Amino acid sequence: MRIIRTKDYAEASAVAAEIMAAQIILKPDSVIGLATGSTPVGMYAELVKKNQAGLDFSSVTTVNLDEYVGLAPEHEQSYRRFMNENLFDHVNIKPENTHLPDGMAADPEAECVRYEALIKSLGGIDMQLLGIGHNGHIGFNEPSDHFVLDTNCISLTERTIEANSRFFASRDEVPRRALSMGIRTIMNAGRILLLITSREKAEILKKAVCGPVTPAVPASILQLHKDVTLVADAEALSAL
Ligand code: PGA
Repeated sequence: MRIIRTKDYAEASAVAAEIMAAQIILKPDSVIGLATGSTPVGMYAELVKKNQAGLDFSSVTTVNLDEYVGLAPEHEQSYRRFMNENLFDHVNIKPENTHLPDGMAADPEAECVRYEALIKSLGGIDMQLLGIGHNGHIGFNEPSDHFVLDTNCISLTERTIEANSRFFASRDEVPRRALSMGIRTIMNAGRILLLITSREKAEILKKAVCGPVTPAVPASILQLHKDVTLVADAEALSAL
């Protein structure tokens, strides 16, 4: 694992955008796995600036890690809407080349099978962006007694519902289930870009990077991936 230490969130966002831009320049038709949440917002803003300065997204395909079950694409808190507002609407990516699991699918299990097959049909993911949850989740793969391998329908833990309630009018409105790429789907990506900032992630980052590889801390599996670049600010690295 390469660790790039930055002084703050702004620098981490800029460095992560540089790494993703380099991936797109070197392979214009890259398949990029994307993530939502607060952390990558600054990085997406940097990528929009790079697009305005000539970085070409016209041949890029994206697959997002996850989506809430039961939220329509236009819902304020759907991850489709987040991606449109933070990136897709502002760069020259073709809308048909942007993919997320369909949270409104009548049969979530069948949707997981479709999404997994879609990723395979694209030839797999060249670079996957990841954040980490307070409980060590990646995507929505929550702590468990086993690693869930393929794209699957997940019941969110109380901790995640609590963390995500800040985006909703009330805790009751937070969806209880999500569709998420599985651990094997993520681990099959050629490269992983792990972006982690803020002091509140310091303890879990230490467990993920230095602790045992265990499904109790899903991000710990990344210790076994051959090409992980961790971009983190000084606060997130403060417990290491
Ligand atoms: P955050 O979410 O960037 O909003 O902290 C990260 C995650 O839950 O994976």
